[in-house]
Amino acid sequence: MEERYLELIKIINEADYNYHTLDNPTITDQEYDSYLRELNKIEEEHPEIVREDSPSQRAGGKVLDSFKKITHEIPMLSLSNVFNEEEIRQFDSRIRKEGINPAYVCELKIDGLSVSLKYKDGILVSAATRGDGVTGEDITNNAKTIKTIPLKLKEKIDIEVRGEIYISKEKFNLINKAREEKGLDLFQNCRNLAAGTIRQLDSSVAANRGLDCWIYHLPNPRDYGIKTHYEALEFMKKLGFKVNPNNKLVEGIDGILSYIDEKAKKRESLPYDIDGIVIKLNNIDEQRVMGFTAKYPKWATAYKFPATEVYTKLEDIIFTVGRTGQITPNAILSPVIVQGSTIRRATLHNEDYVIQKDLMIGDTVSIRKAGDVIPEVVERLLDRRDGTERKFEMIKNCPICGSKLVKKEDQVDYYCTNPNCDARNIEKLIHFVDRHAMNITGLGDRIIEDFYNIGFIKSFTDIYNLKKHREDLIELEGFGYKSVDNLLNAIEESKNNSLERLLFALGIEQVGEKTAKILARKYESLDNLMNAKFENLTDINDIGDIIAKSIVDYFNSDENKKMLNSLKEIGVNTLYLGEKREEKDAFSGKTFVVTGTLLDFTRDEVKEKIEHFGGKTSSSVSKKTDVVVVGDNPGSKYDKAMALGITIWNEEELKEKFEGK
Ligand code: IVH
Repeated sequence: MEERYLELIKIINEADYNYHTLDNPTITDQEYDSYLRELNKIEEEHPEIVREDSPSQRAGGKVLDSFKKITHEIPMLSLSNVFNEEEIRQFDSRIRKEGINPAYVCELKIDGLSVSLKYKDGILVSAATRGDGVTGEDITNNAKTIKTIPLKLKEKIDIEVRGEIYISKEKFNLINKAREEKGLDLFQNCRNLAAGTIRQLDSSVAANRGLDCWIYHLPNPRDYGIKTHYEALEFMKKLGFKVNPNNKLVEGIDGILSYIDEKAKKRESLPYDIDGIVIKLNNIDEQRVMGFTAKYPKWATAYKFPATEVYTKLEDIIFTVGRTGQITPNAILSPVIVQGSTIRRATLHNEDYVIQKDLMIGDTVSIRKAGDVIPEVVERLLDRRDGTERKFEMIKNCPICGSKLVKKEDQVDYYCTNPNCDARNIEKLIHFVDRHAMNITGLGDRIIEDFYNIGFIKSFTDIYNLKKHREDLIELEGFGYKSVDNLLNAIEESKNNSLERLLFALGIEQVGEKTAKILARKYESLDNLMNAKFENLTDINDIGDIIAKSIVDYFNSDENKKMLNSLKEIGVNTLYLGEKREEKDAFSGKTFVVTGTLLDFTRDEVKEKIEHFGGKTSSSVSKKTDVVVVGDNPGSKYDKAMALGITIWNEEELKEKFEGK
């Protein structure tokens, strides 16, 4: 029986692969059904032998309470965008500047949501969403319902691959039609439908909707001896993944441009939505030379198809107040659909912007939207004016608290300077809990606003005292024991965040995520930072006078000191929990320039390590450079270093110094 069971698994998985992935059915529907029935019967009679790679696992049915979190060992990054030929050329020259003569792979940019799949001994063990790039959600049950995601690979290997879960235009239309008939809300576009489906706790919903998946990225190619992205695609295809047949190896800008041209023409007739073309450097070693920013690989970019423009009416201009008190005019538009999403609002930035565009309330305006970019008002149509339009007038007082607005010297923006303005306070709280800041899930913008108005949360410290209102919260509409306890747990958990999150969350003017990290690493504790003098701060690379002043002012305020003390008393961690610096003589206080390809480090890794040991890095060689690290195919920086008589290390020497005392 066991032998037959294994055979059935093989036959059905094979049939699924041929039908769904290769689009080449090999058995009839009747045969398929009869094998499946036979398999189900065995599993019903012997539930103890059910295997992870059994096709029965695709049926869905498991209902979860919530999604577990999964941490990505290698972060799941997004892509930078380019919008025209010139920007593609700039992307190409940044690569050539590193001495690379690039070959590229062009791919369709599928409009879905990215997924990371992990296999152990060839068996699918987990599927995770991107989340914030570092932590995603465990969607294994839902992913298993997707027939093109192999439950078992053609080789018994450990591997992680990444790709896009999407839904076809045909399925999207069918699902929306059925919903319309039932009077249910419609999905705005294929991406929303795919994303909404993958986040269903009941996996039978996903099983019935018919999601699909293209695989396009192998995060660890070197583990498999793979030298180019194109080889990686071939490798993944051989393992049984569905790899898009439109992927193409091209040479030079002309190759990229004609690929874009060809696919833009084909876009409408494709059975699934795409929103652009992805351009990837083919050679893996060259990818490592280019490295990453915090958000994107520098070896790839996404060309976004030109924005579509539509016309609508500018119904009103309203003003919102940000956490710094900044006042922003917003266009309220008659709702229009642009690229599948309904646009009701667009930012008008500031008074000057509205004046420069000569906008009047009641104007017909053109709206542009490109991909995920925020929609913008392009222009008003003068000949559509009929005299009923109203002149735009900048407000003089805060729309929320009524205090007089002020304009800072040399700036275009107006500010509400009332520190107790409700709108500012709410925005500050929203920022504090943001996933890039204290990362408290369950406290959405609306909830913060409600809790603020009820009086539960007026300050940062109130967030941590919310547990005192547990019983009241449970009574609120939309809450229950479970969601309240989840929220309170998330709040408690956020006390353990490393210092950089807290620093960013405080909303100190000029201190963004990157500066917060630099400060946390350097000072290691909030107390140390609070004692830092202006001069100490400006000594740090990347921190200029304006940022330093803002930090000093912030910590000088008695009110801020009191608030920080209460946070500490409540138990909020104020220490840096990341890796500590380890000064080494070979690096301490010295400036380094790296040129050419290194075998064992990406540019970012090398930079991070040098800084970790107390060195600084720079991109150009000058008399101030202490050491130039030279990899394969170094460029003109090497010649310059020789000419200036600067110390030169090769990769081996660099590694010895990293390991030395
Ligand atoms: S490569 C490090 N290739 O676009 C490699 N992404 O805007 C990162 N996407 O998050 C991704 N089609 O969800 C890649 N052929 C393709 C893609 C693709 C769609 C998505 C992906 C990514 C987003 C970035």
